[in-house]
Amino acid sequence: MKVNNVGIYGWGSCVPEGVVTNFDLEGMVLTSDDWIRERTGIIKRHVACRGEKTSNLAIIALQNAMEMGNIKPDELDLIIVATSSPDMLFPATACIVQDAIGAKKAAAFDLSLACSGFVYALCVGAQFIQNEAYRCVAVIGADILTRFIDWSDRKTAILFGDGAGACILKYKPGNEWWFFLGSDGSGADHLKIIGSGSSDYTPSGSFQKRLPTIQMNGQEVFKFAVRSMVKSVKNVINESRISFEDISKIIPHQANKRIIESVRKYLNLKSEKFYINVDRFGNTSAASIPIAIDEAYRSGVIKPNDKIVLAAFGAGFAFGSGLISL
Ligand code: UT7
Repeated sequence: MKVNNVGIYGWGSCVPEGVVTNFDLEGMVLTSDDWIRERTGIIKRHVACRGEKTSNLAIIALQNAMEMGNIKPDELDLIIVATSSPDMLFPATACIVQDAIGAKKAAAFDLSLACSGFVYALCVGAQFIQNEAYRCVAVIGADILTRFIDWSDRKTAILFGDGAGACILKYKPGNEWWFFLGSDGSGADHLKIIGSGSSDYTPSGSFQKRLPTIQMNGQEVFKFAVRSMVKSVKNVINESRISFEDISKIIPHQANKRIIESVRKYLNLKSEKFYINVDRFGNTSAASIPIAIDEAYRSGVIKPNDKIVLAAFGAGFAFGSGLISL
């Protein structure tokens, strides 16, 4: 899918101060720093403290993006927050962000698609600019999934971290972006937060109270991740007729270094083509791609006008890629 005339004016991110290392986890579950490094590439992750909310991280990430783009709150027409760990089921976290930053004329809504949420939200936000419905759209990916971890489950406790990343979209004539989005709901059971929604009723109709908890079939998610990322990256490259040589970096969802390495092998590309920061942040869900872009951009790894490819996958199953220019 082609999207015309959209540009990015500012990136920002925010992670909680608290850090949990692999060694900290060794004291909580039967695992080891060696195992986690070898199987995932993760060394540490930032974890929200008690009282810290998804909106807190989203607000700071957006403020950082607005500062970079020199955007004033009353310029914003729309705020989209991609999150599957909102402050509450309602009000939407986007409304809380809108009020906190004083974006008085902005519409706001959340988009829930787990780790693929940011790529979808970017595609949706870009449509409003392309259609000339809005002039300035904020797209945020923010998650505090560690709230839903069973810290005695070593399969999930080691993977996730918290954070938020944001960008500002505005009209940029001549720019061409490409997206490919997909889903396969037959994989819904392989990655889910039980106890978190309307399905949590017993057959008798009484509410079955249990803490919202992530359940994951890691191997199935791994296979889907590789398959879907290869497919969606190939699609945006083929459709755009832009070759991999013209792409400055591929910025994949940061879930597991081995997943990224498998994708790299299938695409027959060099390691340098991929930006990886999962070692320091773990899997921050919808925040992982914008945090990685913000970090790469601020450190000069990617530069204004560079073309980059984003590749996401996650619960749903859902997946999506975007070929965008900075
Ligand atoms: O945004 C999407 C989020 N989710 C993902 O991306 C998850 C994708 N999947 C993965 O990243 C990997 O499947 C995991 C990292 C979750 C697991 O790695 P794996 O190489 O698939 O391990 P496995 O599940 O096949 O387990 C291998 C062994 C098992 O022991 P046995 O049965 O061989 O004795 C597990 O019990 O490793 C054991 N194991 C652990 N050992 C130490 C599982 N988790 C751990 C652990 N520490 N944390």
